[in-house]
Amino acid sequence: MKILAVGGAGYIGSVLIPMLLDRGYVVDVVDLLWFGNKLPEEVKIVQKDLFDLKKDDLVDYDQVIFLAGLSNDPMAEFSPSKNFIFNGAAPAYLAYIAKLAGVKRYIYAGSCSVYGYTVEELYDEDSPAICNYPYGISKLQGEKGVFQMCDDNFSVIGFRQGTVCGYSPRMRLDLVVNTMFKCAIQDGEIVVNNPAIWRPILDIRDAATAYIRAIEANEGISGIFNIASGNYTVGELGDIVRNEVRRLLNIEAKLTIKHIKDYRNYKVSIEKARNMLSFKPRHNVESTVQHLVENVNKFNAFDNIEYYNIQVFKQLGR
Ligand SMILES: NC(=O)c1ccc[n+]([C@@H]2O[C@H](COP(=O)([O-])OP(=O)(O)OC[C@H]3O[C@@H](n4cnc5c(N)ncnc54)[C@H](O)[C@@H]3O)[C@@H](O)[C@H]2O)c1
Repeated sequence: MKILAVGGAGYIGSVLIPMLLDRGYVVDVVDLLWFGNKLPEEVKIVQKDLFDLKKDDLVDYDQVIFLAGLSNDPMAEFSPSKNFIFNGAAPAYLAYIAKLAGVKRYIYAGSCSVYGYTVEELYDEDSPAICNYPYGISKLQGEKGVFQMCDDNFSVIGFRQGTVCGYSPRMRLDLVVNTMFKCAIQDGEIVVNNPAIWRPILDIRDAATAYIRAIEANEGISGIFNIASGNYTVGELGDIVRNEVRRLLNIEAKLTIKHIKDYRNYKVSIEKARNMLSFKPRHNVESTVQHLVENVNKFNAFDNIEYYNIQVFKQLGR
């Protein structure tokens, strides 16, 4: 099977693609390489904007994965117009040409941020998705766009992913657990902006497994799936990271609790992915921190701007 991963040189792709190669898939990547390239040498990488792809560029592929776009709130707020183009329009354009090219399945990297500020209930894929900030709106637009193309001959699997965390060769330190880990080591302090807020957390290895389950799912399967390793309050995340850093590195970090209002608060059910894709998360935040500790020597230049999407994005003049 031949797969095209667009945005595959990013944080998630850099863990997922080696796992796909290990399973014998041929994977090509199209990526603007905003954050460089840490993929294995055997991966064919074309550096370009996905808007420059045409139908004929996709005829060789069985499946296409969308992993591109602006991948957090600060980028979306820094450049709202680019956000709506790259996150709202781009996934739909790519799905459109993929379908024309005869691709059989399209997998879309969406986000649980579409749920916004929820009541304190577990949200499933049929719960209201109401948000009023650029990143969440654009991820919902992208999702709605790609599902317009879904039919019996064109399977679409859309993931609503929790906040991803853990080590990737293309590292990010702007995601909550990774940020707390870095701050505990670098500053000896974890700042929790609002301990009551709920977040679904997704270990990057569980995220990669979800994509594998989607690629290998029965061809009749399409749909939206919440994907997370578990639901946590941010206060609880602070406790776990602090404890694990103390236990594994003997570093004592202070916890500073603030009560800043947040516009995102949600916890999600992953039952649909469990039942339809056999997605079974294997990790929790403790094992994520252990994985970060095991790899910390590979990203311990904590001030490298490549680890912070918004800094690279500003430098690119986007
Ligand atoms: N990381 C998370 O916590 C998380 C959570 C939910 C959803 N997501 C979504 O998952 C996807 C991947 O996330 P990530 O953390 O790997 O992001 P990332 O920022 O590390 O990588 C995105 C990659 O896409 C490329 N790219 C962006 N626009 C492009 C375009 N128009 N054409 C070609 N390449 C382009 C960039 O160069 C980059 O390599 C994103 O769509 C993001 O919104 C991520």
